Amino acid sequence: MRSHDLRAKRVPLLLPFMLVIGCGGGRTPQPAGPAGMAPQDPHAVAQRLSQRFERVPLAHLPTPLEELEVMTADLGGPRILVKRDDQTGLATGGNKARKLEYIFADAQAKGADVVITWGGLQSNWCRQTAAGATMLGMRAVLLLSKRDDSEVVVDGNHLLDEILGAEIHLLEPGSDPAAIAEEIAVKERAAGNTPYVVSVGGSRTGGSMAQPLGAMGYIQAFLETHQQALEMGAEPDYLVIATGSGGTQAGLVVAAAAIGAETKIVGISVSGSAESIKENVANIATQTATSLGLGLSFQSDDIIVFDDFVGEGYGKLTVGTVDAIRMVARREGLLLDPVYTGKAMSGLIALAERGYFDEDDTVVFVHTGGTPGIFHYGDDLLEWIGR
Ligand SMILES: Cc1ncc(COP(=O)(O)O)c(C=O)c1O
Repeated sequence: MRSHDLRAKRVPLLLPFMLVIGCGGGRTPQPAGPAGMAPQDPHAVAQRLSQRFERVPLAHLPTPLEELEVMTADLGGPRILVKRDDQTGLATGGNKARKLEYIFADAQAKGADVVITWGGLQSNWCRQTAAGATMLGMRAVLLLSKRDDSEVVVDGNHLLDEILGAEIHLLEPGSDPAAIAEEIAVKERAAGNTPYVVSVGGSRTGGSMAQPLGAMGYIQAFLETHQQALEMGAEPDYLVIATGSGGTQAGLVVAAAAIGAETKIVGISVSGSAESIKENVANIATQTATSLGLGLSFQSDDIIVFDDFVGEGYGKLTVGTVDAIRMVARREGLLLDPVYTGKAMSGLIALAERGYFDEDDTVVFVHTGGTPGIFHYGDDLLEWIGR
């Protein structure tokens, strides 16, 4: 660990999973918190999770929590740490590995031999699902939606899907992937196979997934990060993440509330409006807490999401995103992708510049992966970075 001198709120090295309350908030009013039962010991939450849900080991865990010391100094605080969930393994890493540990356990319990899911052409979710299926002896059927009529170039995640041997169906813009997935499932059943259908991102229930299993992976991730941060001398004031289908943020939100941590979970939208994502995350979080018997429920107002960094839409470069990618690469030697983590980091930097965080806060940037997507944006990135 590199030395760091920007902390007034350091707490001494603490015993594993010992709970530290009260590191104050940022300058912006924060949600009041969910209704529900008293905070629990992190061990008890971890135990509850493992007793109620099977998980099949697919990810490299724990992932490191590292200092971004140069960026911290460049921004003049807050203290910035990075949770390296880009290092989870499963065909180049990312947040979906943790989700898939619970989802594939369910698929195995249901006797599945083929998993059917969907996403965009550059879906990180689909790539990691294809890798997990192969590791567990299942087939993967991926429905990859084109966003427009331009010619399909097989690169980035799509290239890795091909290398992994997934069965790929390209869908025209405007298709209904959920309906097509069900049609394929019917054919698989008729052929004597047992399909498991799971929606994009593994966040929402539906298809074969009756409970929000993707979010369970991020309960565990929060407990892991919280413990690592305590060992590095601080309870995180904020976790900042890219948020899309919402399961990652929901899992983090539930775990923070369950143990009574003061940590605020800040989602940076990569596509939707803050209102719609907050509602979605609150629903998934309530379902997740209910599945775990935590007695917590969440409203939209309990969830923090910024949608000011989306730019022209999902997957569209913004000046802030490219600046963040360049800054983090050239100051820290760390790679971010243009669709998710670059946008999330552009949000973190802008929020720091706006004074959203206090100088002595500890902010954990959760690096959720997306690395293969970089290669889809080669020419654009070169042009924008060199501008
Ligand atoms: C790299 C990366 N980061 C973040 C996210 C957002 O996660 P979630 O869909 O759980 O909100 C995704 C989702 O596809 C992703 O691929």
